[in-house]
Amino acid sequence: MKIHNLKVNGIREPLGYSFEYLTFSWEISAVRLPQDAIFTVEVAHDELFENILLKKTTTNSFNNLTVKSDFLKPRTRYYWRVSVEEIKSESFFETGKLSEPWLAHWISYQEEAIPCVRFYKNLSLPNKKVRSARLYALGLGLYEVALDNHKIGHEYLSPGYHSYDLIQQYQTYDVTNLLQAESELSFLVGNGWYRGRFVFEGGFENIYGDKQKLIAELHIDYEDGSHGIITSDNTWNVESSLIQENSIYDGEVIDYSADIKVLKLVELNDSQELLEERIDPSVVLLEEFKPRIFYDKANQLILDFGQEISGWLCGEIPAGKEKVTFQFSELLQDGVFYRDNLRTAKQEFKVLNTKQTVEVRPHFTYFGFRYVKVTGLSLMEAEKFSAKVLQSEMDDTFEFDSSHEKLNQLLQNIKWSQKDNFVSIPTDCPQRDERMGWTGDITVFSNTASYNMETRAFLEHYLKNLRLEQKQLDGKVPFFAPYPKISPFEGINPFLTGTASAVWGDAITVLPITLYKHYHDKGILQANVEAMVAWVDSIYKEDEAKGSKRLWHFGMQLGDWLALDTKIPGCVMGATDSVLIASVYYYLSAKNTAEALKILNDDRADFYYQLSSEIKQAMIDSYFYCNELIDKPATLQSEVEQIRQGMMQAFVGVSIDTHTRTQTGLAMLLRYGIYPNEKAKNILTTLLAEEMEKNDGFLTTGFAGTPELPHALLENNLADKAFELLFKEAAPSWLFEVNMGAMTTWERWDSILPNGKISGTDMNSLNHYAYGAVEDFVIEKILGFNLPNVRDEQAIYHIQPYYTDYLSWVNGKLKTPNGYIELSWEKEKSSILIEIEVPTRTTVEFIKLNGETIILNEGKNIIVEVES
Ligand code: BGC
Repeated sequence: MKIHNLKVNGIREPLGYSFEYLTFSWEISAVRLPQDAIFTVEVAHDELFENILLKKTTTNSFNNLTVKSDFLKPRTRYYWRVSVEEIKSESFFETGKLSEPWLAHWISYQEEAIPCVRFYKNLSLPNKKVRSARLYALGLGLYEVALDNHKIGHEYLSPGYHSYDLIQQYQTYDVTNLLQAESELSFLVGNGWYRGRFVFEGGFENIYGDKQKLIAELHIDYEDGSHGIITSDNTWNVESSLIQENSIYDGEVIDYSADIKVLKLVELNDSQELLEERIDPSVVLLEEFKPRIFYDKANQLILDFGQEISGWLCGEIPAGKEKVTFQFSELLQDGVFYRDNLRTAKQEFKVLNTKQTVEVRPHFTYFGFRYVKVTGLSLMEAEKFSAKVLQSEMDDTFEFDSSHEKLNQLLQNIKWSQKDNFVSIPTDCPQRDERMGWTGDITVFSNTASYNMETRAFLEHYLKNLRLEQKQLDGKVPFFAPYPKISPFEGINPFLTGTASAVWGDAITVLPITLYKHYHDKGILQANVEAMVAWVDSIYKEDEAKGSKRLWHFGMQLGDWLALDTKIPGCVMGATDSVLIASVYYYLSAKNTAEALKILNDDRADFYYQLSSEIKQAMIDSYFYCNELIDKPATLQSEVEQIRQGMMQAFVGVSIDTHTRTQTGLAMLLRYGIYPNEKAKNILTTLLAEEMEKNDGFLTTGFAGTPELPHALLENNLADKAFELLFKEAAPSWLFEVNMGAMTTWERWDSILPNGKISGTDMNSLNHYAYGAVEDFVIEKILGFNLPNVRDEQAIYHIQPYYTDYLSWVNGKLKTPNGYIELSWEKEKSSILIEIEVPTRTTVEFIKLNGETIILNEGKNIIVEVES
């Protein structure tokens, strides 16, 4: 296939999706084309392309085209093809109900809520041949749909997690080949995020609704031209199920001896206004792991899957078992199964009273785990179980290998933390009683994530929720999305009531620009630009009311979350002046917004460029006196610091000393060019070098500073320090985690202490992706891949590898729309051999050791550099 992987809005053959805009994209391989080759995209009503609705051409080398979607009709399949020269490739997409009113009713049951119910309808269809049949459905909390007990579709945890109070995304199933004249259509509906225990602080129940409900419409077109519709209504049935308990945090209990009770079905008058087509990729089952089985030191039967994953345990339970329990955990302590760091999350799967041999798996929960403790089964019965990965479906786009085994393992670990936390929404962690879509974590990780996998549809789904939540908050962005409204508990926790601080709230500008940088999809910017503007305006307005300082000097700030530089036990906000961090992000958000507007040819761009330069200048004025950095600027008296001192006193009982002269502060100023002149820049560089030396080359940075530090060092002639930092093996460092046997990246630098003991149980996960943001340093600096500029219309990659002494060879492969860019470098006696495969329609500017830029040709290029 020369043109392949055709997608619409990042999804292959989307069925019943929402298309606010249409971005057609495709990949090419095994073909040579000129950079300005003309691609024609056609959309038709029919497979033969006789009735063309749209025809457009593009020469952009990112292989995509965004058009308006206003011509789309409900429940219609559209065929589209893309052609260049003599080559063609075809695909389709299909709309859902769009604005068409629902004929179905929401249905529920009259009795008190129970954890899981089964709605069903016996279908009796006319004896006619079915031409096409579609099922449009949504069960809240989580559901699985089946025809005669055969699950329909390949996805799990439907409908995924979204802001159910603001949007209710339904799914569409093609059931053409599944329907029989007589069959039973059934929906098993559990609690999920909708009504099960969720959110920290011990969790809240019934957040979005207090009982399960379902809406479904089955549309059947027969060969004879007739049409049949079956809708959820009061002719359906509902009963209890074998699933006795289910919750995202606590797991699931299935009792095979449970009585199935007939319940009284009720038709609800609930509004259908929030119903909308989905836009997210499906959550699917992927890799399967077989266990190593052993008894731990407490004589408990343990399965070790050798990898920390998010997912399920699946297998066979023999007849006659009264109670089999599986408990899930991340680690062992002193050779014993350990799970105190899950806080209140039970993470358990129980199967009771099997009458015959049964294949079991959970339905409405998932676990973050490597180890499983089994009770109620023999070793031989337990070892047949396997672990299966659950993850939102995304293409892998990056491969890496090098002479350094530990670096390779680190990159694997980062990818696993991404996989494990990309389940429906980007979560902070997959195991404890949290698993929420924290904005700050994905702000810092989105660039790395988008190198690893095609995140376009996944992150756009998250952004859609974030935008909806933002609308409720007058332009402010919450700490996490979806953002459950727990009104009776207001005031309980600043995260549940406040709007987000810097880094967190800035997700709304960082994610769209990062996605654009990776995919050059204008649809994403169109969808997000007003939200970006609203966020920057909300900070601007508050600053206007508080003295027009052009700094972000107010509100609650999390600073450099989890940084190590305060040395105060229990302090989670680091020692860097929060106004500095917040103002750098205010600057970045203003600039991202200006860039988005500029790309969309919107005149408002000038205002935000101007604003970003005013913020930069205000920072220079506050943080520098002549060329010198002011370590204790006036901003330290700001509202932010007062709030922070208040929080510190309340939680830790001490006050905290904050500075600008920290690794994080210096790295951020350097990275974003916030200094008055070259002399000041050199002073910052000297100070950063000193800060590194003071700490024996180790980092002290948290969420805000960590992604910046290695880049800032390398970009400022401190390459030795950057690589020393990356390759450190003692604590705190990335490779220390690898040395301690980590298979994912930890939340804290000291999640596990050098003696192997967990450092605390309060907020300590071994599967957080934020610090994995360092992978973009490996990609952009060691391999030297630099993506085309956001404003480039053509794919021009700049490649400038750094041949660090820690490595003798590397190999990297990055997927682009025109094929893979592959790069390897290998050190020979006194030279370095570099091989670069350049895909078609792609320009690579390679920067040599002597600073010379050379343009590489399509195909394999060999460069020899002589080390001085
Ligand atoms: C989460 C984080 C999050 C932070 C913000 C933690 O509990 O796990 O990753 O960003 O809270 O305060």
